[in-house]
Amino acid sequence: MEFGPISAGKFEEVIEHLRQHFPDEPLNECVGLCKTGEPCELLEHHDMSTLEEGFSIMAIDPKTGEIAGVALNGISNRGDNELAIEEMKSIDSIQYKQIFGLLYNTNQELDLFAKYNLEKIFELRILSVNSKYRGKGIAKELFLRSEILAEESGFKLMKVDATSRFSQRVAESLGMSTAKAVKYSEFKDEKGQSIYSIQPPHEYYKVMIKELSPKN
Ligand code: ACO
Repeated sequence: MEFGPISAGKFEEVIEHLRQHFPDEPLNECVGLCKTGEPCELLEHHDMSTLEEGFSIMAIDPKTGEIAGVALNGISNRGDNELAIEEMKSIDSIQYKQIFGLLYNTNQELDLFAKYNLEKIFELRILSVNSKYRGKGIAKELFLRSEILAEESGFKLMKVDATSRFSQRVAESLGMSTAKAVKYSEFKDEKGQSIYSIQPPHEYYKVMIKELSPKN
């Protein structure tokens, strides 16, 4: 497998990879924001702006040239989460709010910027491996290379909103710790209703972090 940065010429191919292989992410599978093989405007806007930040990494099968997996990485600045919560008010999609509302509100409560006295955090936002290449350690390698890039780029903290038991296992194996865990079955919305019915082994959404030793 070959690993490397994702150049602008590959962005469309990455979006196509995500249309095929990201929809079984546990929260999406539960609420049905994106359907396999179909465009998904709201998530793809988020994906594309993350790709444009220039910190994303892909795995390519050298035999076929196919994208085997991607880690879409971006920078979160102090205040971005508040803005995202504000922007979400103008979005009509209930499914989008069920996914990103959970992530943004949990991060708001956690406030890692205040806790660690930081202005910016390196985020691994989207981790996706082509279903035929899963279980071979590709996600782990993408994760590890993202961490190295974060350190080389001078970041002190790396964060992942890990919604899947599998991404949590990768994060744990690389020494990340859980800053906050939300049990899907116990979560209630503002009306007191349970909204996530997620299949095992995906029991929790975890905000996972690692303090880094920046090289710059
Ligand atoms: N059943 C049981 N265990 C599994 C499975 C499976 N189907 N798939 C992976 N694992 C385990 C592995 O054994 C490994 O654990 P271990 O180190 O304890 O042995 C761990 O999960 C990760 O294994 P990798 O081979 O590195 O992961 P893989 O390359 O298969 O990719 C990924 C994992 C990215 C989660 C993939 O399943 C996927 O793309 N899923 C759909 C999208 C998704 O859920 N992405 C993560 C959401 S969180 C986020 O995006 C930040």
